[in-house]
Amino acid sequence: MEEDNKNKHIHLTRRSFFSTMGMGAATVVASNNLAAWASEENKVMDPTEPTKITLKINGQTHRILVEPRWSLLFVLREHLGLSAAKTGCERGECGACTVLIDNVPRYACMTLAVEAQGTEIVTLEGLMKGEELGHVQQAFLEQDAFQCGYCTPGQIMAADGLLRSNPKPTDGEIRKGMSGNLCRCGAYHNIFQAVNRAVELKGGG
Ligand code: FES
Ligand code: FES
Repeated sequence: MEEDNKNKHIHLTRRSFFSTMGMGAATVVASNNLAAWASEENKVMDPTEPTKITLKINGQTHRILVEPRWSLLFVLREHLGLSAAKTGCERGECGACTVLIDNVPRYACMTLAVEAQGTEIVTLEGLMKGEELGHVQQAFLEQDAFQCGYCTPGQIMAADGLLRSNPKPTDGEIRKGMSGNLCRCGAYHNIFQAVNRAVELKGGG
């Protein structure tokens, strides 16, 4: 009986041993794969290694050296001197940094400069026709659609993007289209009026 128990113990111990070995081997293989993947990722994603990129902004081509971690907002403001897009929350909540990417309003603070390659970027500066204001800018001016003005460039870009895809939006569509842009001064009433006026100025009214 004692011998039986001993053998059972040895048997179980061996089985556990092989099972443990199997898991161990799998773990080793998995961790090797993970290490290889991580080192490959590190190679590609080193956030500080300067990378040459080409951005098309307001119809002009810019070849610049950027760190992959830099946001489009940072590159626009700090490297290209295009300061109309404003730095607000820097986490995709306020809309002060809104620019158009392929005609769609996007938060420049949440877009990496490297991922904006191959797109058409438009900033508020790009809405000017020489010294003349664009339609949406003119509408904001006419409707007094700002107080401190800090959110205004982002509001204008959001409105411009909305009207590019929907030249005659309903009130509901304007509210939805502008909902990603906050105004701490609470100038919303005039902002909505300005969007409606922009529709008229653009010939959609
Ligand atoms: S600064 Fe980009 S959303 Fe606020
Ligand atoms: S006008 Fe001041 S935040 Fe909108």
